[in-house]
Amino acid sequence: MAVLQVESVKKKYQLGQVSVDALAGVDFAVQAGEFVAIMGPSGSGKSTLLHLLGGLDQASEGEVILAGNKLALLKDDAITLVRRRNVGFIFQFYNLMPTLTAEENIALPLLIDGKNPADFRARIDQLLNLVGLADRRLHKPDQLSGGQQQRVAIARAFVTAPSIVLADEPTGNLDSKSGEEVLDLLRHSAVNLKQTIVMVTHDPKAASYSDRVVFLKDGKIVDEIKLN
Ligand SMILES: Nc1ncnc2c1ncn2[C@@H]1O[C@H](COP(=O)(O)OP(=O)(O)OP(=O)(O)O)[C@@H](O)[C@H]1O
Ligand SMILES: [Mg+2]
Repeated sequence: MAVLQVESVKKKYQLGQVSVDALAGVDFAVQAGEFVAIMGPSGSGKSTLLHLLGGLDQASEGEVILAGNKLALLKDDAITLVRRRNVGFIFQFYNLMPTLTAEENIALPLLIDGKNPADFRARIDQLLNLVGLADRRLHKPDQLSGGQQQRVAIARAFVTAPSIVLADEPTGNLDSKSGEEVLDLLRHSAVNLKQTIVMVTHDPKAASYSDRVVFLKDGKIVDEIKLN
């Protein structure tokens, strides 16, 4: 079953006289449980594509179907709900809330969705164990290493049990050992928890943890290889 389908998607940015075709007709699908890496040179449209996949931005043309929802047909409020219920995001610079502890950061998507985090104690504990931070639950982001902060961000992305996790350069700011820990965690989640993941990366080593690599160039998919 496709969790995500992209059909003939184009994205044009217009800034004054300058128009950029960031995506020039992309067709792409992600099946449930797949771990897909997107690679390509700087400016090839990787982040643009990831933003459209997660409903953070709208396509200029074409169709993005996320967990059965055609995003182009929905109003902003409805897209926000689809995103909240179905997508977990992981960013290069973690984007944690500096005033909240690790466990409060992990619980934040539940709070935003109107849930009581106290009802999810077991799940939050399970995620803290999964990311190896059970003994850091009360630490704030500035009391954690970069790798630890990214592992908090991964637990936060997983807490709502989303249909898909989208990661933009999740190891881009990490040393190689912390990067490997993050990639091991993503691979483990894909294999053992059947978590569907799409990850943008510059790094061929990072891409090697995925099931399939899609190559973007000038806003188009130019190649694809199956790994696992
Ligand atoms: N908000 C925006 N307004 C105008 N142009 C944009 C905007 N965002 C991206 N672009 C342009 O769209 C193209 C694709 O950008 P994008 O950020 O998707 O590239 P990328 O593949 O993620 O690059 P990198 O590897 O450097 O992160 C670039 O030419 C960029 O200048
Ligand atoms: Mg980018």
